[in-house]
Amino acid sequence: MATLFEESTIAGMTMRNRLVRSATWEGMCDHDGRPTEKLINCYLDLANGGIGLIVTGYAFVSPEGRQLSGQMGLHREDFEADYKSLTSSVHEAGARIAAQLVHCGGQTDTANAGRRPLAPSAVDVDQFPETPGELTKREIDGITDAFGEAAQRARAWCFDAVQLHGAHGYLINQFLSPHTNRRTDEYGGSIEDRSRFLFELYRKVRYAVGDDYPVLIKLTASDNMEGGLSSEDALNVAKKLSDAGIDAIEVSAGTPASGEKNPARVKINKPGDEGYNLEEARRIKEAVICPVMVVGGFRSYEVAENAVRDYGLDYISMARPLIREPDLANRWHRGDRRPATCISCNGCFMPGLKEGGIYCVVEKNAQAKEAKD
Ligand SMILES: Cc1cc2nc3c(=O)[nH]c(=O)nc-3n(C[C@H](O)[C@H](O)[C@H](O)COP(=O)(O)O)c2cc1C
Repeated sequence: MATLFEESTIAGMTMRNRLVRSATWEGMCDHDGRPTEKLINCYLDLANGGIGLIVTGYAFVSPEGRQLSGQMGLHREDFEADYKSLTSSVHEAGARIAAQLVHCGGQTDTANAGRRPLAPSAVDVDQFPETPGELTKREIDGITDAFGEAAQRARAWCFDAVQLHGAHGYLINQFLSPHTNRRTDEYGGSIEDRSRFLFELYRKVRYAVGDDYPVLIKLTASDNMEGGLSSEDALNVAKKLSDAGIDAIEVSAGTPASGEKNPARVKINKPGDEGYNLEEARRIKEAVICPVMVVGGFRSYEVAENAVRDYGLDYISMARPLIREPDLANRWHRGDRRPATCISCNGCFMPGLKEGGIYCVVEKNAQAKEAKD
């Protein structure tokens, strides 16, 4: 029976346990997307804290696909030395690192994209800050090429894997979802056609990195909204990805327009609120042959352990708890099994936008109060 603290391997990438830092935008890169010393230290804290695999914050593959300040970019050859310094620091501390690749599509704005945002369709929906332009076939080819090139850089710069961002309403998700994809050409209509973009992209990434390198995906299990991507269609995509050779699927769900069922839910007050994508992840696990990771609301050791033992999931991913406690994996491993202290308030986003990097505001306020008293 699988346990949280055992070694495991995905396509040749061996991890010291089954705990994953889910992709978390830190807002710590410079204006162009180049990693800074502060970011490297943040990753070093996570790696020293005992996590098995770190998935980076979402890294744009081309500048018009960027969204937030301080976001990582994997679009420039001259970032090589900085990224190699990042990956080698993580490796020296015993963790693995995967680069998450993204194009934000319509879920960005002109100020960040440097041009009018582009999406599958020029629709005016809550999810998009502006009405985007509709991607041409040539632009689609350019984006899938950019994913391949970014993946090739990631491999050359010693990342252990790449993860495609196929969730949270970004471009891959936008193509999959009938809410944002209203195309009438070969990229729209049936789920077969709505997933064409993803499979073209996957094939280019696979060709770029080779068969012996782990290619993972964070996949939405549902848009959690009326008229969005359904669980059935997402399951169909998961099965096809597994058949096509994807090395692991990390299950998430929702978009910023999904209300309470958005990807980073608040009000996780008791064990029953935790692991809110567990049922969807189990459905996917039962249908695929590749390993499955699950993210969303894991806070207590018991819930995480049950997900592996009773639900048969292969990896447990966390984002917010590790902002407050980068050493949570080591703490649990040492036998201190108290739940993560994260209160899931999402206060960590704001300093990423305003202060050059995310941190736990609850903890910082508590420390400030203590110093004052
Ligand atoms: C500050 C912050 C940044 C995030 N950045 C990303 C990201 O870059 N890519 C991604 O796939 N998810 C991102 N997420 C979502 C998390 O990976 C995760 O799916 C979500 O927070 C639920 O997991 P949790 O309850 O363990 O935090 C982010 C979440 C937070 C709070």
